[in-house]
Amino acid sequence: MNQSNLSRLLGIRYPILLGGMARISDPILTAAVSEAGGLGTLAAAMETQKSLVQQIRQTRKLTPQPFAVNIPVLIKSPATIVDTVINAGIKVVVTSAGDPRILSARLKAAGILIIHVVSSPEHASRAESAGVDAVIAEGFESGGKASVAEIGTLALIPQVVDAVKIPVIAAGGICDARGYLAARILGAEGVSLGTIFLASKECRKIGAGYREQLISAGVTDTAIAARDVFAIRLLKNNSFHKLETMISKKTALETIRNFIFSSDLMDPEGLISCGQGVGQIREIKTVREIIDDMVTGAEKILNQFTK
Ligand SMILES: Cc1cc2nc3c(=O)[nH]c(=O)nc-3n(C[C@H](O)[C@H](O)[C@H](O)COP(=O)(O)O)c2cc1C
Repeated sequence: MNQSNLSRLLGIRYPILLGGMARISDPILTAAVSEAGGLGTLAAAMETQKSLVQQIRQTRKLTPQPFAVNIPVLIKSPATIVDTVINAGIKVVVTSAGDPRILSARLKAAGILIIHVVSSPEHASRAESAGVDAVIAEGFESGGKASVAEIGTLALIPQVVDAVKIPVIAAGGICDARGYLAARILGAEGVSLGTIFLASKECRKIGAGYREQLISAGVTDTAIAARDVFAIRLLKNNSFHKLETMISKKTALETIRNFIFSSDLMDPEGLISCGQGVGQIREIKTVREIIDDMVTGAEKILNQFTK
């Protein structure tokens, strides 16, 4: 069960992906996931062409295994980032937050495999028509930007699986073997994980305070902030409330954008994005432990059912 059409297509051992996380999924975390048998993903959202090229080079020094680059369609100049990944010889791109048709023709022409992040069956069908090779169906419980559709992972995955013929990868709230196995049983060919890797030893971009809050947070400690503007899932700390106050006072959009995207990841009082799965995280493991526990745990559970 720990292989699938998707893992064969991507040439990886386990169908487990690191979700691209802006400012967080750096070469160290990306390479750690690829080295442990999954597919690491660099995040291009906040990078310049130069810094992305450096990150790609650094990742290649750390692992000979394949990895992807995430390009949110809504960033300022996605087409130049597409040129950068093509020139760098990247083989897999995860597009998100926008219409994949804006980038898909150019990526396809370069022979790049495209995985697009969707949040509803309709969205998935449109992405399939645009020629993407697989979709990540991301449920509302996920960390990062929240889907407008607001569909939970359990309802979303089977409906997306029924809507398309291309492989479906599940995301949102998957933090352990049970979530991974459940996603596979719902028809997903793999999983894409953010929050659990955010809380891994190899995630060096966040400070100790951020990490401690991930360990102590419960399932009800996150909420969607700036719902009508950026809709991002955050821990309900003081910065979250400050952001909500800025929204209610109709603060200029640019000020809100800066507050969100320049929040100091080392500051325990800063904005902390994570998914509802955070309530399950009680210790910081290595990426390899997270992946090994997921695949061996899933096999154990499956064996109990088939005894
Ligand atoms: C801190 C953080 C930053 C994220 N940044 C991005 C991003 O830049 N691009 C993107 O497509 N998704 C982003 N995401 C979403 C993840 O790629 C992934 O789909 C999501 O975290 C999966 O849900 P989970 O957190 O419940 O595992 C981010 C998530 C988190 C927690």
